[in-house]
Parts: sequence; C-alpha cells; structure tokens
Amino acid sequence: MKNAGKNVVSAHRGLTRLFYNLMGRFYDQLYHRLIRGYVESAETLMNDLVREGDWVLDIGCGTGLLCYLAAPKAGGVVGVDLATGMLQKAIKKQSNDQRVYFVNGDALRLPIQREFDCCVSAFMLVMLPREKRWQIISEMNRLLKPGGRVAFLTSRPEFGEQWMSAEEWRNGLRSLGFTGILVIEKDDVFLNIVASKPPEDGQSAMPYIPTQDWILDPGELDGDASFDEGVPVLVS
Ligand SMILES: C[S@@+](CC[C@H](N)C(=O)[O-])C[C@H]1O[C@@H](n2cnc3c(N)ncnc32)[C@H](O)[C@@H]1O
Repeated sequence: MKNAGKNVVSAHRGLTRLFYNLMGRFYDQLYHRLIRGYVESAETLMNDLVREGDWVLDIGCGTGLLCYLAAPKAGGVVGVDLATGMLQKAIKKQSNDQRVYFVNGDALRLPIQREFDCCVSAFMLVMLPREKRWQIISEMNRLLKPGGRVAFLTSRPEFGEQWMSAEEWRNGLRSLGFTGILVIEKDDVFLNIVASKPPEDGQSAMPYIPTQDWILDPGELDGDASFDEGVPVLVS
C-alpha cells in the first residue's frame, strides 16, 4: 500500500490505462489475495451499505470486486473503468442472473446519465491529483439520488501523503454538502468513508450502520451522528 498511487502510472492517464490493461490478469492474485484484509474490508463496507433493490455505481471498478459484492442485493450495478484489461477480467466473473453492467470510460468524464442509490470507489482516487479526486466525487454526488450514499475504500494516511487524512475527507465531503460522514478505521491498513446526500424535504435518510466489529473511534464521527448502544446512528 505504501507506494500505491505514487508511481509513474498515476502521472498520466494513458500510462494508467496501459498499466491496468496489463495488470488485469494478475490483479486479483496480487492485490485481493496478498493484501490481507482488502477483500474483507470491501465485504463489510458493501454489506452494510447496499439495500435491497439499490442501484450502485462503482468508479474505477477494476476486476469488479465491489460490483459483485453489491450484486446479490442490488437492483443493478454499473462498474466504470479506464482499462479494458481489468474489465475483461470483471466480465468473466459475470453470471446470467446478475444485473451487473460494465462501462469502459474515464471517471473524469463519466458517460452515464442515470441516478444511483449508492456511488462507491475503492483504491482509485489515490491515483489522481487531489483536485481531480474532488472533481470525481462531485460527479458521484451529481449522479446520486437525494438520500443516497457514497462510500470509499482506501488506506490510512500513515502510509504516505498521497492517502487523504480523516480530516481532509470530512472537510471535502462536507463542502460538497454531504452529511452523516463516517470515517472508519479497519485493521491497521484501511480507512473506509461513508457519507449521505441530504434527502429531499419529507424524505427520511437511510442510516448507514457499520457492523459492530469495525474499529470506530467516536471522535471520528461527524457532528450529525450519535451512538445508540455502541452502534453509530446517523440522525440527519
Ligand atoms: C487499484 S485498482 C482498484 C480496482 C478495484 N476498485 C478494486 O478495488 O479491486 C484502480 C482502478 O482504477 C482504474 N482507474 C484509474 N484511473 C481511472 C479513471 N480516470 N477513470 C476510470 N478508472 C480509472 C484503473 O484502471 C484500475 O482498474
């Protein structure tokens, strides 16, 4: 994790595409298998996030990890990625009964018009300069239904300055109008972030309730969340 996002591929989208086109065949073995806790963190996040019938958008979906975790409950899932090599691997995992769709495209110019209940991204934003990351999160916000949720799977800032701190996440998400911001530490490595787009008048927000075994520092909770018997409950 330490050098992820720092290498030369992050400097240029053409190189990113080339690198991940080549990585497609090996990615699951090298990352999902070898990085302890990667898949488990993703599983916990998606289990807690996705509700029955939700439409889910995964930005930088790669070989489809988050897409296929969302699929059993989701009404539909759309995964977007720059690299066809990664998407080919993702498509190979598809079964007929799943409403999982893959789009080859750039997150900075999302070729998508529908609205989603959840927009998620794992280990992709770190590849881009900070201002571009917030440009993509603004796009996710635009494609999110009122009351919908965003979630990010990422690494903790101790691993290098390319990883955003909890404060940076909170300030950035707040400035885009998100509420119920939770920054959750998972194992020694991961930082998972969840936030909600405010619902429209008269609509109630769907709380995100993290699984109990997640390490959650109450100090990390946003002002609009409270604890109910140890389980954080979003109140707005
Ligand atoms: C580290 S991989 C993570 C893949 C997947 N989210 C996972 O966790 O298994 C980063 C992915 O982001 C994709 N990516 C990087 N920049 C992108 C962009 N501008 N638009 C869309 N996808 C991008 C890469 O092609 C790669 O598949």
